[in-house]
Amino acid sequence: MTARDDQTPSPIRLADYRPPAWTVARIELEFDLGIDTSEVHSRLHLHRDPAQDAPLRLDGEGLELLAIALDGQPLDASAYRYRENVLEVDGVADGSVLETRVRVRPAANTALEGLYLSGSRERGFLLTQCEAEGFRHITFFPDRPDVLTRYTVTLRAERERFPVLLAGGNPDGAGELPDGRHWARFVDPYPKPCYLFALVAGRLEKLERDYVTADGRRVALVIWAEPDVIECCHYAMDALERAMRWDEQAYGRNFDLDVFHVVATHDFNMGAMENKGLNIFNAKYLLADPDTTTDDEYRAVEAVIGHEYFHNWSGNRVTCRDWFQLSLKEGLTVFREQQFSADMYSPSLKRIDDVALLRRAQFPEDAGPLAHPVRPSQYSEINNFYTATVYEKGSELVRMLAGRLGPEGFRRGMDLYFERNDGRAATLEDFLAALGQANGIDLAPYLAWYGQAGTPRLSGEGHYDAATRTYTLTLRQHTPPTPGQPDKRPLPIPVKLALFDPDGRMLPLHEGATEQVVVLDTQEQSFVFPGIGRAPVPSLLRGFSAPVILDYAYLPAELALLLTHDTDGFNRWEAAQQLAWRAYAELRDGRGHQALAVWGDTLAGLFDQATLDPALLADLLTPLSEVELAERETDVDPARIHALRQTLQRELASRIGAGVLADRYRALTAQASDALDAASQARRRLKRRVLELLVLLDAPAAHAFATAQFERAATMTDRLAGLAVLVRSGAPQAAGALARYRTRHADNALALDKWFAVQAQIPGEPALARVRALEADPKFTLKNPNRVQALLGTWARGNPSGFHRADGEGYRFLAARLAELDALNPQVAARLATAFNGWQRLEPVRREKARAAVAGLAEQSLSRNLAEIVGNMLK
Ligand code: ARG
Ligand code: ZN
Repeated sequence: MTARDDQTPSPIRLADYRPPAWTVARIELEFDLGIDTSEVHSRLHLHRDPAQDAPLRLDGEGLELLAIALDGQPLDASAYRYRENVLEVDGVADGSVLETRVRVRPAANTALEGLYLSGSRERGFLLTQCEAEGFRHITFFPDRPDVLTRYTVTLRAERERFPVLLAGGNPDGAGELPDGRHWARFVDPYPKPCYLFALVAGRLEKLERDYVTADGRRVALVIWAEPDVIECCHYAMDALERAMRWDEQAYGRNFDLDVFHVVATHDFNMGAMENKGLNIFNAKYLLADPDTTTDDEYRAVEAVIGHEYFHNWSGNRVTCRDWFQLSLKEGLTVFREQQFSADMYSPSLKRIDDVALLRRAQFPEDAGPLAHPVRPSQYSEINNFYTATVYEKGSELVRMLAGRLGPEGFRRGMDLYFERNDGRAATLEDFLAALGQANGIDLAPYLAWYGQAGTPRLSGEGHYDAATRTYTLTLRQHTPPTPGQPDKRPLPIPVKLALFDPDGRMLPLHEGATEQVVVLDTQEQSFVFPGIGRAPVPSLLRGFSAPVILDYAYLPAELALLLTHDTDGFNRWEAAQQLAWRAYAELRDGRGHQALAVWGDTLAGLFDQATLDPALLADLLTPLSEVELAERETDVDPARIHALRQTLQRELASRIGAGVLADRYRALTAQASDALDAASQARRRLKRRVLELLVLLDAPAAHAFATAQFERAATMTDRLAGLAVLVRSGAPQAAGALARYRTRHADNALALDKWFAVQAQIPGEPALARVRALEADPKFTLKNPNRVQALLGTWARGNPSGFHRADGEGYRFLAARLAELDALNPQVAARLATAFNGWQRLEPVRREKARAAVAGLAEQSLSRNLAEIVGNMLK
């Protein structure tokens, strides 16, 4: 394997961590901004750690060094060396000031890391992305999160082309310069690591709102976007205000600058970035308007606004010592974001969404060649570790800790964590210590969760003894090996449980409570419940109290009881998932229809229950995804999984009945509105699900409904649902609807992304031809990460039967595109390459073809990002 960069990738190890030999107390940065070239002048006020005597070494990648001076004296070429992305300078003393002037090339920066151009040369704007290691593409600096520095940033540019100049921190003057140029200065009073630095310059419009924090600070909230989309920022502004109030109330955290800027860009590698005082968002997580934004997208905007805002404390005021601690800020902030969304919407629906995501994205990661602990012990390219494991599993670990401490104890612990670590670069040990010490509890055993990869399997067995009226629950755990970790230790697994009597009533447990948490912290343990009059049905792992895979040999009738009676909304859904899985296995193995009948009939029975939330019903009616089904199989054949899952759904539909489905569809349509409240969203969610089921029984009727819905929809949710049903089921009306959608939304990038994505989801072999045709569309480009994700990402990562063709063409096609994309944007290429994850578990024909495609890729000259993913995949 060859890596394209000059350096061969030698892994960075957590065990090698040393505090910085040099820190920077203050930096004065001056930018002369231009689209093709920008110049960056920096003045670093340096301090040496007296305990170390290493020479000054600064990171810098692709910088053209124009001038360098130490303590006011220009440096002789013999006094410094710039090679292999490091600038080494001789003769630096504690208190020295190092000045450099460099040139960078924003318009040529297709990797979207460092300083780059968003949009066209004529109309676009300049912006930066520094996390994780982008700052070294802007100037020379110790680019590591444990170097905290006070920033003074001065921006200069042509006023006509760059009327708006922004950087993080408080404004500190602005004015005119000769030749039509102007300047603006920002001072950030809070020391920060360089990954939180940001600037933005260009023609942007703003929305502004005054906000007064709970502790009385007046803050100007300003959202910036290009003129054509500024009116799509009102929803984000409302969401921002909700998030700020929520953090004040839930965690006692206030905003701490005079101004908070938020900027939207269509060219962004990730979702959004929490730069201090200047958050930058991928437009798809900021812009919202009724004509083009779906309900799910509205909720995502609110969640990501919350996420980035919450980072101001969990990430910025308290940051990470090194990138191995990434989950310290990301897992914690995802957890805070999930709590916020649950409070704004519905806790159990939110929990279902989050667990479904964990199973779809994180479990496969944890079970394959890319498995890594929430705190990895080594990496070659840190950008490859912004993963579902670090984010989503990391959040699950915080949730377990919060559950262990209870709401008040957790708040006490968080208060202590923020107080102790404010202004510091902290570790996961610091986090557990603060939570534990505030409550007099030793949480150290939970640290094992951070270091051990793989999803634990929890098996349970219940035994009822009528003579002694006791119920005994025996729990066992086992974590399968993962790369580099053959042997696993037992972990503390909190299991929240309740017991139901055969009539569906909850039984009183300890001290009259109906719910209890038992913690399994050895390989096997039994828990005894006395005073139980009849054999109970256990409701285990309620609310998904630990990120594990549960095996419990329920009878179908027991699952039906939980599905009907459980008071935990999440566990009702879980019972439906378990039943659907059994029904699927019966169909696959051709052995009777017992679970299928129970699943179908129970759901058919719930279908008309007036008290059931339509959104929960929609989720209950959705069997596990093809990705999750593949996780449970060996010799995976995605085409067969797709076909079986369709059969499963057809069975469900026919047990409910075409007439009942059509009636419900009509009733929901009659109630349609364009309102965004939870009840309206819930009805739209159910309406889509009903239509998806009906199309399996009576395609002509469903196609007529879908077409009418598409044409008359008052919301994007309904329009897109109609379109998706037509396109995925191969309706004769699909082509016309696609053409009309395309014309209607021709100038809206986010709406067009959905047009690409919906076609990338066509099941089976025809998907590839469609993807190829769409690549030739004038609106397709490999240079835009959202467009790449919409077409190639949706197809390769979200459409298993479309990607995994038996002839291997899908694999060869993706490998070719990855090589091309890698030359433009390594981060996006590396993420897309994870589509190959799980190839070892495919059936032999596909397996060999996938292996050959990945191996062929490995022989090419690749970025460090893609080389690491491909290399791990072949290990
Ligand atoms: N910290 C950002 C967030 O809130 C993610 C930025 C990651 N960027 C990257 N290039 N890896 O999730
Ligand atoms: Zn984050």
